[in-house]
Amino acid sequence: MIEFHGQRLRDAFHVVVFTGAGVSAESGIPTFRDALTGLWERFDPAALATADAFRNDSALVWGWYEWRRSKVRTAKPNPAHLAIAELARLVARLTVITQNVDDLHERAGCHGVVHLHGSLHSPRCFACARPYEGTTDQLNEPEDGRRIDPPRCRHCNGKVRPGVVWFGESLPEQVWRDALAAVKDCDLLISVGTSGLVQPAAEIPRIAREHGAVVVHVNLQRESVQGEREFSLVGKAAEILPRLLAQAKE
Ligand code: APR
Repeated sequence: MIEFHGQRLRDAFHVVVFTGAGVSAESGIPTFRDALTGLWERFDPAALATADAFRNDSALVWGWYEWRRSKVRTAKPNPAHLAIAELARLVARLTVITQNVDDLHERAGCHGVVHLHGSLHSPRCFACARPYEGTTDQLNEPEDGRRIDPPRCRHCNGKVRPGVVWFGESLPEQVWRDALAAVKDCDLLISVGTSGLVQPAAEIPRIAREHGAVVVHVNLQRESVQGEREFSLVGKAAEILPRLLAQAKE
C-alpha cells in the first residue's frame, strides 16, 4: 500500500484541513464521545447539547458549557494546531474547517477558520437571537455543583445560550456554503480527528473525493479508504501533522 507522503502537500494548490475533536484532544479537551470524568461523569454530553435540554434546565446546560469554556481557556494549542497554522504559510491556499467550538486554531495563528458548529465564545439570546453583549471574560465556575444560571439578554431579558450548533439544529447557512465552496475547490483535504458520525459535516471527505481531491484521514483509528487517492494515517494528530509538515519542507 502506498503511504501518503507530506511532500505531496507542496504540489497542492488549495488544501482544506477539516478537523474534529481529536485535534484538540492532546490539548486536554475531552472529545465529545470520550467518557467524561469528575464532575460530569454521569452525564451524556449529547443529551446536554440540545435546545430541549436548555428549555428544561438552562442552568445545567449553561453550567456544562461554562465548564467546557474553562477547559478551553486553560488549554493551549498543541503541535497539530501549530503545524496546521504553519502549513498556511507553505501552500498557496489553506482553508481550515472545524467542527470544534474551541478557539485553538485561531490561537495557533490560523485566520478565517470556518466554524461549522459555532463557538463557545459567541453566546447569543435564546429568545431574540441577538449576540450577547455582556462580557464573557469573567468565567463563572460552578462552585458547589454544576448549575450556573445563564446571563440575561440586555434587549429582551431572554436567557443567553451558547453560540454553538446543538443536535437537531441546522448549520448556519452561510458557514455551510463557505465550507462546501472550499471543499469542492480543494485538491487535497486532510481530515483530522473526527469520528464522521455527525451530519452534514461527515459528508465533507466524500464531497472532496467526488470533486477530485486527494483525501487523507489522520485518526487514532484506521479509516476505510476508497481508490488510490484516499489515505488513512493512524496515530496522534499532534505527531502526524508535524511529520507531514517536516516532509513537505524537505
Ligand atoms: N489524534 C487523532 N485523532 C484522535 C485523537 C488524537 N490525539 N484523539 C481522538 N481522536 C479521534 C477519535 O478516534 C475519533 O474518531 O477523534 C475522533 C473524535 O470523535 P468525536 O468525539 O465524535 O468528535 P467529532 O467527530 O469532532 O464530533 C463531531 O459531534 O458531538 C458533536 O457537535 C459535536 O462537533 C462535534 C461533532
